[in-house]
Amino acid sequence: MKAAVYERYGPPDVVQIQDVEKPSPADNEVLIRVRAASVNPADSHLMEGKPYVGRIVFGLRKPKLTRPGFDVAGQVEAVGKNVTRFKPGDEVFGSSRGSFAEYVCTPESKLVLKPPNISFEQAASVPVAAYTALQGLRDKGHIRPGYKVLINGAAGGVGTFAVQIARAFGAEVTGVCSTRNVDLVRSLGAARVIDYTREDFTQGDQRYDLIFDLVANHSLPACRRIMTPKGAYIGAGVLGLSMFHLPFRLLAVALLSRSAGQTFVNLMAKSNQENLATMYQLLKDGKVTPVVDRCYPLSEAAEAIRYLAEGHARGKVVIIIDSSRHP
Ligand SMILES: NC(=O)c1ccc[n+]([C@@H]2O[C@H](COP(=O)([O-])OP(=O)(O)OC[C@H]3O[C@@H](n4cnc5c(N)ncnc54)[C@H](OP(=O)(O)O)[C@@H]3O)[C@@H](O)[C@H]2O)c1
Repeated sequence: MKAAVYERYGPPDVVQIQDVEKPSPADNEVLIRVRAASVNPADSHLMEGKPYVGRIVFGLRKPKLTRPGFDVAGQVEAVGKNVTRFKPGDEVFGSSRGSFAEYVCTPESKLVLKPPNISFEQAASVPVAAYTALQGLRDKGHIRPGYKVLINGAAGGVGTFAVQIARAFGAEVTGVCSTRNVDLVRSLGAARVIDYTREDFTQGDQRYDLIFDLVANHSLPACRRIMTPKGAYIGAGVLGLSMFHLPFRLLAVALLSRSAGQTFVNLMAKSNQENLATMYQLLKDGKVTPVVDRCYPLSEAAEAIRYLAEGHARGKVVIIIDSSRHP
């Protein structure tokens, strides 16, 4: 079968499409014929081996993980003998390492059925982005109906889910994005949209119960000034920071973790069965609709990773895998 593979750290050019052995499922695993997979910033971070400190875990001289892709949607082809929730033919989505490939095996606990009202491309865009938004807003930010929530980076993969999830929880959402994305963010349910090319959100009079920050381009004192006395700052992303500054930001958030009633948290989201089940329901009920920016064929996986790494995707970037072309 075909799969995207890289054998050394570097820019997206290191990704090649190779013939690799088709996997077979362990007892608790499901073999999926992949129909679509989505790209996340983590794919390029791992591929480039940055920040360098990460190489202590992911391989000092060359990467231990050589197959990009975390999110998958497709059709069950076979199941291990202990699998009870899925059968061949089921349409599923969830988490799987190395999902830029024609087939993957993943534990059944990392999958849910695909709601029939969304496409494989939309389903593949859900896992990492949606559980980051869900864990940030609900589990760490304790979002409630009526909360005033600011989402910095509202037009990207995580942001487009965060706006809709915050709305689904009854919050009043302010989204921050550039001019060309103002209409998109408003259409997702944001009551207010701040165009960061014209206005600095930390300079307004509005106070927020929850700031969900995917960009980290404003100082913590500036964010603190616009938080309510019991407000929370959830730092989830670093789109506006260099890798050099990243450790300092994480340290600053950690040092402030609970200061005079306000909460500061660095989010490290993890794949989670309950989150997928929650997303299944939100998607099925039409409360969340994934926003897919661009789709690329597997042969252009490197281009898809490069496009996302430019930092201006509108929603998610998806890789479509058509294994009928490689029987
Ligand atoms: N903590 C975790 O567990 C976790 C999990 C997943 C992702 N993340 C991180 O979260 C961040 C977002 O991930 P993602 O998948 O959403 O990335 P993404 O899809 O690449 O985000 C792109 C979006 O960021 C927006 N953006 C760029 N600069 C901005 C600025 N100065 N102000 C406001 N928006 C800006 C862009 O909007 P414009 O084109 O309008 O500028 C674009 O729509 C990344 O840093 C990622 O590494 C963390």
